[in-house]
Amino acid sequence: MADGTPTPPREASTFAPDPVFASNAVATRDLADRAHADRSAFWAEQADACVTWGRRPTETLDWSDPPFARWFADGTLNVAYNCLDRHVEAGHGERVALLWEGEPGDARAVTYAELTADVKRAANLLSSLGVGPGDRVVVYLPQIPEAVVAMLAVARLGAVHSVVFGGFSAESLRARIDDAEATLVITADGGWRKGSVSPLKPAVDAALALGGRSTVENVLVIRRGENAVDWVEGRDLWWHEALEGVEAEHTAEMFEAEHPLFILYTSGTTGRPKGILHTSGGYLTQVAYTHRNVFDLRPETDVYWCTADVGWITGHSYVVYGPLANGATQVLYEGTPDSPGPGRWWDLVEKYGVTILYTAPTAIRGFMKAGREIPQARDLTSLRLLGSVGEPINPEAWLWYREVIGSGTTPIVDTWWQTETGAMMISPLPGVTTTKPGAAQTPVPGIVVDVVDDQGVPVADGESGLLVVTEPWPSMLRGIWGDRDRYVETYWGRFGDRYFAGDGARRDDDGDIWLLGRVDDVMNVSGHRLSTAEIESALVSNPLVAESAVVGAADETTGQAVVAFVVLRDKKRRSVTPEEAVARLRAHVADRIGAIARPRTIVLVDELPKTRSGKIMRRLLRDVAEGREVGDTTTLADSAVMGVITAEMR
Ligand code: WT7
Repeated sequence: MADGTPTPPREASTFAPDPVFASNAVATRDLADRAHADRSAFWAEQADACVTWGRRPTETLDWSDPPFARWFADGTLNVAYNCLDRHVEAGHGERVALLWEGEPGDARAVTYAELTADVKRAANLLSSLGVGPGDRVVVYLPQIPEAVVAMLAVARLGAVHSVVFGGFSAESLRARIDDAEATLVITADGGWRKGSVSPLKPAVDAALALGGRSTVENVLVIRRGENAVDWVEGRDLWWHEALEGVEAEHTAEMFEAEHPLFILYTSGTTGRPKGILHTSGGYLTQVAYTHRNVFDLRPETDVYWCTADVGWITGHSYVVYGPLANGATQVLYEGTPDSPGPGRWWDLVEKYGVTILYTAPTAIRGFMKAGREIPQARDLTSLRLLGSVGEPINPEAWLWYREVIGSGTTPIVDTWWQTETGAMMISPLPGVTTTKPGAAQTPVPGIVVDVVDDQGVPVADGESGLLVVTEPWPSMLRGIWGDRDRYVETYWGRFGDRYFAGDGARRDDDGDIWLLGRVDDVMNVSGHRLSTAEIESALVSNPLVAESAVVGAADETTGQAVVAFVVLRDKKRRSVTPEEAVARLRAHVADRIGAIARPRTIVLVDELPKTRSGKIMRRLLRDVAEGREVGDTTTLADSAVMGVITAEMR
């Protein structure tokens, strides 16, 4: 096993499905049997059940050119039509799609009829700006209804969106704009966060002012924060002004199932983010299927709330495409959980009568720390199902979630998946699976995974190894934007015919899967993916820095935290105090990548621990960062260096 793999958790008690819940659950026991009997027929059936096709596909999977899959390739569809018009045509136009709440407390309910009309007008506007099939549009927005409208308008035209999370810096934004060669950016003046307006448009201005010509022709600006913004005549347009008088009629064109839907950048093991490419028919099938079955969704009565930002894959698949394809009613909240007070989320659950809540372990641990009195002061009895995603959920947090938030009765689904997988891959099925706190347990029906050793040999029950996906799946990434080889190498290089996820996993004695965290140099901070290499290269781009090594150290609340070990340049060392150097470097990382990547701790050291061949031994640094006894140092070139570093930590 790779360095630093946590020891598998001890198993707590299990929870059998409640018989009443089970007796009318959406997912049934036979789902897995049917998938097992004929996987291809199973997915064809889901494609039919989940999607309204222009032309129905006659072929399911084309795997003749692995690892490049084509799903439902001779089918055609319009993804936005599937999320909007078809619900209105079915008579559900008056159903609320979005129960939006702004951080300051302003609120708006948007029905399916209204959302459809908004998207049609936005699509007409975008096409008048020259956006057509295949063109890339960058979306850099707060969590407001217009973010959903923008994404769906792009999709409706067969264009490709690339949503960049609002917490990324101007420089990160520009790198994504350039890599995607986007012609349009949709942003807002600013959005509300932690009680004040956090500006966005200035970051777009700064991004486009960075060296070299960009491909961007226009910037559409939504008014939200009402903060003052600069204006570039001829390039910038106010969204509300540009929409004036635009037609509300728009007929959705059909596109092939493999037509690109979006690119979403994520961190890998190198310094350069990867543009993960997803396409239309297979993606929509799997997000809708999982959203319905894993969340036991009843679109007529449920009030669903996924707390993720649309800037992440969870927001794409389980705020925008899955729920809207299923005609669900959902809460969309702009702000942070603790603004204006620590009970904000629970006020929202009570106010809207939320029935299904999907959030991340880091948030749950944050609430645990703040105290159960806060949620317990609200009426949370509307909740009937809870979901978790983003990192392994520790059994204590799982049990607290069920007991305090779920009244001790709701099923919990711990869903494992990735930006690359597009949709959920491993999760209990409510009403079917006897759940185990801390385990994602079983692949969802239709998905085939395994746990293997370094050689690719499946491990026995009770053993740990590496998680692989052994069969192609409908919502799998179709590649890395502009880099065919990197896709093949990163995910298929290790085992050839199986997809390597980058996660360690254990099969317990019942064959259930427990995720053990990343085994590569990808960190997981508050459920967000960060690359050690990317932060290291940001650090060494500062003139103060000679060398750096970044590790993800265990953190009680955020799962992992960024800890950087930095060697300053000799000449610079005398010109700044250590405190100043640390403050400047933390700010520098925030500036280069975004506030989410800012190291929690920077330790200034004289030297980094290296092997005789010059490889940095991150395992030892992780030991130091986590306050552990330092492990085996015999392969170090200079065995004294760890003693010095440990002394410097104190
Ligand atoms: C990585 C993917 C999936 C949307 C959010 C993150 C970790 C995710 C779980 C889970 C254990 C999990 C994995 C994975 N992860 N969900 N339920 N149990 N680990 O998407 O940024 O692409 O990160 O998040 O390490 O590889 P992402």
